[in-house]
Amino acid sequence: MKIENPKGTRDFTPPEMSQRKRVEDAVKKVLDSFGYEEVSTPIFEYAELFEVKSGSDIKERMYVFDDKGGRKLCLRPELTASVCRMYANELKNSPKPLRLYYSGPMFRYEEPQRGRYREFYQIGVELLGACGAMADAEAVCLACECLETLGLKYRLELGSIKILRGLLGELDISGAKQDKVIALLDEGRRDELKELTDDETLLTLIGLKGGVEEIEKARKLLEGFDEPLKAVEELGEIAGILDGAGVSFTVDFSIARGLEYYTGLVFEVRVEGLGAQNQICGGGRYDNLVELFGGPATPAVGFAFGFDRVCEALKEQGVKTGEVEETVIVAPVGEDACGYALQAAGFLRRELSGSGIKVKTEITGRKLKKVLEYASDSGAGFVVIVGGKEKDENTVTLRDMKAKTQETISVSEAAERLLD
Ligand code: HAM
Repeated sequence: MKIENPKGTRDFTPPEMSQRKRVEDAVKKVLDSFGYEEVSTPIFEYAELFEVKSGSDIKERMYVFDDKGGRKLCLRPELTASVCRMYANELKNSPKPLRLYYSGPMFRYEEPQRGRYREFYQIGVELLGACGAMADAEAVCLACECLETLGLKYRLELGSIKILRGLLGELDISGAKQDKVIALLDEGRRDELKELTDDETLLTLIGLKGGVEEIEKARKLLEGFDEPLKAVEELGEIAGILDGAGVSFTVDFSIARGLEYYTGLVFEVRVEGLGAQNQICGGGRYDNLVELFGGPATPAVGFAFGFDRVCEALKEQGVKTGEVEETVIVAPVGEDACGYALQAAGFLRRELSGSGIKVKTEITGRKLKKVLEYASDSGAGFVVIVGGKEKDENTVTLRDMKAKTQETISVSEAAERLLD
């Protein structure tokens, strides 16, 4: 009976997992270095957690089900809401600002295509308890630093949902209609937008895209509209700090983001070569979500990388993700040497720990000739041969598979050679 994996999910083979692990470790190292701490939340949650503020786009794509107790649950489609729930319930008294990150699978019932899956992975960051331009700038800088560390070429785009919603409010477009305008903008369906509004100021605003000078244009365009104008000043401040930090970006006033909880800055990162699904990171400020889950008013900003897309972009751009790992095989020759082989392998693992060198023991009892064939087929660099003679003399025979040479030395000397 052959059973396929469900549509929109993937299996990852050992080489794929090894690449993904290296990328994940590199990103987490950067997050650690900025003082962010890892958290973990459940894979399934009460559906209402995401229904309140995630936006129609995500709501329609959620995997919702009743458990045996009749509870309405869902597989998490994202993690910002979960982290805010956790903060409201358990972390609200921590010293602020609180810097958190997470990684893991998310689930959205999407039409699968390249870069879009039903089970996909994110690495995300939430900075809670800090308002103002410096906090926003830190989140953006952190996303950029991760991508710089990976060696990826990318484009950063900044916008502000506060400007958009502010202007829509001034135009008396509110509630569900406002959300609809935002959703259409997010999905790039500008033609349909005209059915909801033909306001010239709005249409001009969403056409502004370019360098920092676009902020000045928006300032002029929105003269007389107090709320959106204040938001332009805020975006200008963030852009000024990022510019001073040497971060390159484009300003795009049409960025709307599908999630409804954003309240200020919104940003997206795109890369070449991924086709339609080229957005590898999205985030922004959301100042009302913690309060919505019963916590104190807590300003917050964050972002999430689409981890699968980051890995695909690295491959697409030909970026090498780490050194080739070395493997050593410890092979007993004859039953008498089996115990000694395990002892030698254990010693080598302890001596080589942290070096990335892997020590496998030969466990099938096959002839040495076959072990050497396996070693060369699987790319192992060295074989440590231990027979009765080595056992009696407390030595090992270290065979270099590439040079095709071997020498009989003590186990400590073998460890030193392998570390060279
Ligand atoms: P999001 O834009 O919905 O934001 O997702 C973040 C990233 O996840 C996207 O930029 C994309 O790279 C990736 N992604 C989304 N859906 C899929 C999919 N079906 N297949 C593959 N990759 C996908 C959020 O989820 C927010 N929680 C981000 C955030 C954190 N905002 C503030 N804090």
